[in-house]
Amino acid sequence: MSTLSLQDYTIHIDDDLQSLPDYIQQGYYTKVIVLVDENTKAHCLPILDKILENQTYTLIEILSGENHKTIETCCQIWTNLMHEQTGRKALFLNLGGGVIGDMGGFCASTFKRGIDFIQIPTTLLSQVDASIGGKLGIDFGAIKNSIGLFKNPKAVFVESQFLKTLPFGELRSGYAEIIKHSLIADASQWQQLSAISDLKSYDNWAALIEPSLKIKQTVVQQDPFEKGLRKALNFGHTIGHAVESLALETDQPLLHGEAIAIGMICESYLSHKKGHLSASNLNEISQYIQHTYDYYPLDSNDFDDLLNLMRNDKKNKGAAINFTFLTGIGTCLVDQTCSDELICESLEYYKKLYLGS
Ligand SMILES: NC(=O)c1ccc[n+]([C@@H]2O[C@H](COP(=O)([O-])OP(=O)(O)OC[C@H]3O[C@@H](n4cnc5c(N)ncnc54)[C@H](O)[C@@H]3O)[C@@H](O)[C@H]2O)c1
Repeated sequence: MSTLSLQDYTIHIDDDLQSLPDYIQQGYYTKVIVLVDENTKAHCLPILDKILENQTYTLIEILSGENHKTIETCCQIWTNLMHEQTGRKALFLNLGGGVIGDMGGFCASTFKRGIDFIQIPTTLLSQVDASIGGKLGIDFGAIKNSIGLFKNPKAVFVESQFLKTLPFGELRSGYAEIIKHSLIADASQWQQLSAISDLKSYDNWAALIEPSLKIKQTVVQQDPFEKGLRKALNFGHTIGHAVESLALETDQPLLHGEAIAIGMICESYLSHKKGHLSASNLNEISQYIQHTYDYYPLDSNDFDDLLNLMRNDKKNKGAAINFTFLTGIGTCLVDQTCSDELICESLEYYKKLYLGS
């Protein structure tokens, strides 16, 4: 049970949501809205209900999944808010994973020029990553998170008890962001993680959440609008996002963290080829990620499409595709570039790693 303070909000970790009713009372809100999907309604809402006790609220339920992180779902949410005659002095509680947090925060921040919201992340990924840092938004066309804004919540409540009902695949997806945080900023946490050889039987998630959150907190605090240092958090995401976007269009979609795991292998390879990362570090990282994540079939015929998706990435400056490279385990360099040929070579490296040459 602890708290982490950022400039204008607090992250409460495992404090049983105890102070949530106080927040609601102190804010003199005229209405409380809870956003859920069908899974968080079934598994997480009963826990929240116990805490909220006598507090009345309006429930808005949307369909789960990245393919619903769209403007159409936002219209459904805004229509509900209009129908309920929601005013500016309402409070939005986002009870769910990164999709609910990103989209609920986006809807709240744009409704009547912005109403307050609180993030209650219920997946590992949203607990260590998506719920803090103020990035909100939705996917548009084939491009992930292409419409959105920066806006901080009033508070974040991270409760590891929600993870008890989370499927293993979702836990493993969130674990990719924990790996990423260690690789860019914390070599000792990497040592701890690389000793976890059987993720399926691992159950001490609470021990990993706080150190991982602290890394993200430290980075976003220094660079809230991603002008420099915060780009470190994009390690694995340039290639990962492109692979995720492409996979979304197929009948074999990838979870966010599964795509980032692919991106981290490829971008570690690029870091090595550009002379920043040693061969032994590359091997160590690749072997561990390969051991933890299943192979995703990448088709060399899709490499051009992947490059085009990378070119559309909002992290780019001008025409060059922007990367964060590792300079060792626990250190990195932002604003890096490389040739298209090398990017394709890194995708081939991923394939060979799993399939052998
Ligand atoms: N804003 C940011 O800084 C940031 C950072 C990283 C990722 N993201 C975004 O986060 C999203 C991915 O988030 P995610 O991995 O949490 O996926 P998600 O929100 O789709 O949730 C995954 C699945 O788990 C279910 N679920 C959630 N909590 C549960 C629980 N406690 N028990 C059982 N089922 C539960 C959900 O209904 C869903 O089916 C992506 O859209 C990504 O772009 C945002």
